[in-house]
Amino acid sequence: MVLELRIYGDSILKRSSLPVTKIDKEIKSLAANMAETMYLNKGVGLAAPQIGVSKRIIIIDISKEYNSLITLINPEVIYKEGEEVAEEGCLSLPGISAEVVRPSKVVIKGLDLKGKVVEVVGEGLASRAFLHEIDHLNGILFIDRINKEKRRELRKELKELKRLAKKGIR
Ligand code: CO
Repeated sequence: MVLELRIYGDSILKRSSLPVTKIDKEIKSLAANMAETMYLNKGVGLAAPQIGVSKRIIIIDISKEYNSLITLINPEVIYKEGEEVAEEGCLSLPGISAEVVRPSKVVIKGLDLKGKVVEVVGEGLASRAFLHEIDHLNGILFIDRINKEKRRELRKELKELKRLAKKGIR
């Protein structure tokens, strides 16, 4: 099932999400719906708060064929190195992009959908995607990581997104 995306201005995007305590049927179906929603909207990652659920679940698929889905529950960054600048966007900030500095390599630890502890290495775009999605679980958007000048440039567009979010129009 495709779920409705929460857009900038929605307060859930500023909230810290709660850890998942039990991976039950509900969580599995939520993860499946998140994937469907991400693919339909042509995203490379999605975090649960973006579809209105304040739980620590992220998915990413950075492959061009969309055949390498990674689902992580309660993800944590356990290692990071390097630095890289690249343009970033977000399904919750349609039409907006900016350059963001991120570590070029990360190791993320979390649970898979079977509840098994897994460690995933991400480099380049994967590193960026993991960190972007984990930020969502902590109420952080990529525009919170850009310089003041760029943020000022985007002020008008952000204001407009907020206005539309308030009205429930996208
Ligand atoms: Co995002």
